[in-house]
Amino acid sequence: MNYSDPGSEEQEKASRSVPNSEQTPNRAEPARVIVGITGASGAIYGIRLLERLRRPGVEIHLLVSRSGIRTVEMETGLRLPDLRAMADVHYPIHDVGARIASGSYPVHGMVIAPCSIRTMSAIAAGLSSNLLLRAADVTLKERRRLILMIRESPLHLGHLRTMVALAEMGAIIAPPIPAFYHRPQNVMDLVDYSVERVLDLLGLPAPDARRWDP
Ligand SMILES: Cc1cc2nc3c(=O)[nH]c(=O)nc-3n(C[C@H](O)[C@H](O)[C@H](O)COP(=O)(O)O)c2cc1C
Repeated sequence: MNYSDPGSEEQEKASRSVPNSEQTPNRAEPARVIVGITGASGAIYGIRLLERLRRPGVEIHLLVSRSGIRTVEMETGLRLPDLRAMADVHYPIHDVGARIASGSYPVHGMVIAPCSIRTMSAIAAGLSSNLLLRAADVTLKERRRLILMIRESPLHLGHLRTMVALAEMGAIIAPPIPAFYHRPQNVMDLVDYSVERVLDLLGLPAPDARRWDP
């Protein structure tokens, strides 16, 4: 679904895909998950998350920051249309009037993967200056799950204090830190480990997730 012309309600209605709930009124609402991709290194985490969320019963709403578009291209060679094709709904980053800008729109939760220090700081400060930040703020105020895969190293005291503030507000701080007990064979094994933990945190575990079971 394309929201590239937010000014035209008619066009929006005509072009939007019909949610499952409208096709079959008796069916349960899909779990709507907002995925934000920002300009921290590790675009692959966001892309893998999109791939693992793509399943029946889950509706993916995608937001990519300008810097996120840049890092996705640099790190993976993919472009914005490639990402959008992996989501059910996508929005321009500046469309602060989109439905996910309102708490009245039911959403299961939101993951920012990867989450830059800039976006982390803006969320902590309540700066809803773009749709990604507004959606994160709404997620917190509605007491829904907000999972931040913050990627930076090393961290100064300001970064650490900001993470504490966000944890106090209810956000889940989930930096993509790899584990090695499952004997990863390649980079994607490491990526999958972090993404699977995030899916657990989201309450939408991957059916094929590998788990520690000695
Ligand atoms: C190649 C590249 C890698 C970057 N890696 C990081 C990073 O790991 N963490 C981070 O916080 N910022 C990183 N940045 C800087 C952010 O992209 C920059 O702060 C940007 O303003 C973030 O904007 P956004 O939060 O709207 O995406 C990186 C930038 C580039 C070009």
